[in-house]
Amino acid sequence: MARSRLRRAGAASVTAVLLAAGPATVADAAPGDGIGDPYFPTYGNTGYDVEHYDLRLNYQPDTDRLSGTATLVTEATEDLDKFSLDFLLDVTSIRVNGKKSAFESDGGHKVIVTPGAPVDSGDQMTVVVKYSDVPSSVEWNQGQVTGWHRSDDGAIALGEPEVAWWWFPSNDHPLDKATFDVRISVPEDYKAVSNGILTSQFTRAGRTVYSWRQDEPAATYLATLAVGKYEVNTGTTAAGLPVYNAYDPGLDSLLGPAKASIERSEEILEFQERDFGPYPFNALGGIVAGPDTGLGYALETQTRPVYSHAFFAAGSNPYVVAHELAHQWWGNHVSVARWQDIWLNEGFASYAEWMLSEHEGEGTAQEIADYVYDSYPEDDPFWKVKPGDPGADSVFHSAVYDRGALAVHALRLEVGEEAFGDILTTWQQVHANGNATVEEFVELAEKVSGQDLTELFDTWLYTEGRPAEPPAPRAMPQTMAAPA
Ligand code: ARG
Ligand code: ZN
Repeated sequence: MARSRLRRAGAASVTAVLLAAGPATVADAAPGDGIGDPYFPTYGNTGYDVEHYDLRLNYQPDTDRLSGTATLVTEATEDLDKFSLDFLLDVTSIRVNGKKSAFESDGGHKVIVTPGAPVDSGDQMTVVVKYSDVPSSVEWNQGQVTGWHRSDDGAIALGEPEVAWWWFPSNDHPLDKATFDVRISVPEDYKAVSNGILTSQFTRAGRTVYSWRQDEPAATYLATLAVGKYEVNTGTTAAGLPVYNAYDPGLDSLLGPAKASIERSEEILEFQERDFGPYPFNALGGIVAGPDTGLGYALETQTRPVYSHAFFAAGSNPYVVAHELAHQWWGNHVSVARWQDIWLNEGFASYAEWMLSEHEGEGTAQEIADYVYDSYPEDDPFWKVKPGDPGADSVFHSAVYDRGALAVHALRLEVGEEAFGDILTTWQQVHANGNATVEEFVELAEKVSGQDLTELFDTWLYTEGRPAEPPAPRAMPQTMAAPA
């Protein structure tokens, strides 16, 4: 299919990037070594490429037991006598191309699999993993990070980069994007929400089965599962996309502000299409978590971001919606090749908030840029983090967001409105459903604008310390600046 060819073409250029950057080459890697991400070297795996995840799951909210079968439709990219999966839950059995296969945990987040029959490079490899566990009981990193968030009566799978490990076995790195079918059975008084289109829903013997289909490639951290007694609002956009919004019943007085924000998704999306190009996916929606999950952030899970209740504590908030919807282009349609490329996600999603503010008449991007620059004093440690290479501990540091957005604003001022618009839309076309690096962005921005942008990006992305001035519009000739 054209789509998978496109995707593989993207993956190939990215492998080249990692080969150039990584300490161990992909060819030398042993199972469990990871795909070669400089910040998170154990994340993801080599030797195969996942095309599709099929998850058939059963969830019991009262006990938090998740069980089911994950089928990974993959292609071997090497001769394999062993390979690894990223997963923390208890595995019952694994079959590879139909054959019972031995497996063992590496003691961390890897399951090492020995296929029952050898697999050759280029072969289709179907991996069937049966599992049953209580995700909330599974600790990683002394329990400091979890991708499984229980509520009083359900749970949400959410996290970045770590989340898939708590609910499905995967090749857990954005480099290996795949399509998803998530079929999930829950007690009939519950809703189960995932990504993409709800293709069927039926109730039998006290349980409701939801079938969700994400048929545009997605990075593993962008898949979510939310089970709760949600209030659901569905519809269809003017463009014909199915909309599915879910609100936690515990939102109480925040339900109004949450709806007043999420229900504006279609409008905000239409505004963003003018700058970023056509919305890349075929479904739309949002999930608003209740206070009982303890979630304090939002995350751009594909087609259906999850929002913490906290964003609506002071009333409606179209900006968080703009941020998460902008990620559908910046992060989801074009994904990071390495986690150090996170500016491509957070810098642009943050700038999308400034663009919406300008559009809403609530402050221009320039006013926000000046305000943000001034709000961090010169000696603030904020200026020590370089958005273009923040370090593994700081991928979600406020500098990646705020200084990252200042960098985008500086680019816009430097190249002008027309070239800026061309850069944004060309980027989305060139890397559609693929992966890319910050270096590739700089290269494309220079090519499209015809300008040397080395100094600009050095200043805003790669240099410690506060730049001497906030990004400022070039002085206009007197004749243009004079009021009419
Ligand atoms: N991509 C998310 C956002 O839009 C970041 C969430 C990071 N937080 C976390 N705890 N992993 O802001
Ligand atoms: Zn973000």
